[in-house]
Amino acid sequence: MSEILAKQEELVLTLSLNRPEKMNALTRAMYADLSKSLNDAAGDFGIRAVVLTAEGDHFTAGNDIMDFMNNPPTSDDSEVAKFLAAILNFPKPLLGAVKGNAVGVGTTMLLHCDVVIAGPTANFSMPFASLGLVPEAGSSFLFPQLVGYQRAARIFMTGESFDADAAIEMGLVAAKDSDPLAHALKIAQHIAEQPPQAIINTKALLKAKNHDAIAAIMKAEFEIFSMALQSDEAMEAFMKFMSKKGK
Ligand code: COA
Repeated sequence: MSEILAKQEELVLTLSLNRPEKMNALTRAMYADLSKSLNDAAGDFGIRAVVLTAEGDHFTAGNDIMDFMNNPPTSDDSEVAKFLAAILNFPKPLLGAVKGNAVGVGTTMLLHCDVVIAGPTANFSMPFASLGLVPEAGSSFLFPQLVGYQRAARIFMTGESFDADAAIEMGLVAAKDSDPLAHALKIAQHIAEQPPQAIINTKALLKAKNHDAIAAIMKAEFEIFSMALQSDEAMEAFMKFMSKKGK
């Protein structure tokens, strides 16, 4: 069974993370599948919106820690970098349906979505610094822009998590629903009924002001992130996670 499930209903494609036994932690293979699906969907006239979601009780525990240790993404052609470029450049509406934990890239990828619906159990966190790492996916720019500098600094520097209500208040999430996927699909279907070129142009205009700045910031973040991944601070944090695992 694939670790990314793709399901098309009429003009809407749903991509679902499917590694629930590891809290949907993202491996290189999963990033590669996601990038391919998004890039294919971008050029497919039969797809007008994409919903990102996950199987099981949690969205994702972020990047797979074993992959971080064994195959650190250190170049622009790494699968993580290609995935981040795919979500930054995806020209059609991208929606998110989130429940449970959304850790690290599980939260930062949502900053690139056009509409996010969260379940009551949703819990967002970006504990990059706690892991000896730095914010990625353009979040060092997008998150303070969304919530203000001090709130962003506090969340990044403490690693503290926040719930669906806080995410709505911040503007990271549009609405809370006990069935976030059904809610997101309803909005996606509604969008898919609109004139498609007008939707693509609307998204391009909404994103225009930030696009080039985010691309440049992602590049800078990636360079620092790559070095941080190989630091003693990160190794120590990864080993701590692994030893907890073996408890
Ligand atoms: N990479 C690899 N495996 C992960 C993972 C990750 N990022 N997050 C969770 N898992 C695995 C666990 O090892 C465990 O697998 P196991 O049962 O085979 O040991 C399973 O998923 C369930 O996770 P567990 O830690 O038992 O759940 P929990 O409810 O006690 O804790 C978290 C949930 C999210 C707090 C904890 O899993 C965690 O801290 N994960 C790492 C998150 C992270 O740092 N991500 C990177 C962000 S940049």
